[in-house]
Amino acid sequence: MERTLVLFKPDAVQRGLVGQILTRFEAKGLRVAGLKMRQFPVEHMQKHYDVHKERPFFGNLVDFMTSGPVVALALEGKNAIEVTRNLMGATNAAKAAPGTIRGDFGLSFSNNLVHGSDGPESAATELALFFPEKDELCEWTPDAERWVYSVEER
Ligand code: RTP
Ligand code: MG
Repeated sequence: MERTLVLFKPDAVQRGLVGQILTRFEAKGLRVAGLKMRQFPVEHMQKHYDVHKERPFFGNLVDFMTSGPVVALALEGKNAIEVTRNLMGATNAAKAAPGTIRGDFGLSFSNNLVHGSDGPESAATELALFFPEKDELCEWTPDAERWVYSVEER
């Protein structure tokens, strides 16, 4: 099982889409291991998007990400990173495929509703940033999970 970090960005929270977006991940069969809602400080979001710090949009991105509450999720599943990124859709929501979260709910390049870690290393770093305490993540196996994966896949 792989673990990844997902954020519901301030636009998703302000637009009342938390429930609908969470449902997409749950309905897919991904396991929620951690969940919190907070308006994170500027330094926190600067750290989160450190990889983009030299990019021209960095300032606007940090302003946006700190403009309101964000929901942070730790999700688990087989290939959870790739599965999550596929559910999210392309960065530019206006061009994201219908059926994806960004494709169904957004029209903007920047206000694109969700973030998902893009690889195992970023997932580990981002999970440690948003869920620093060990007891913030639940180790559990949903009863329904034996119906999500076949015996060989588990
Ligand atoms: P994210 O990191 O938020 O999951 O999004 P992503 O991987 O699909 O896209 P990434 O290239 O990592 O960009 C991070 C976020 O910065 C904003 N952005 N704005 N104005 C621009 O040219 C521009 N480029 C990126 C978006 O909010 C994007 O999600
Ligand atoms: Mg990214």
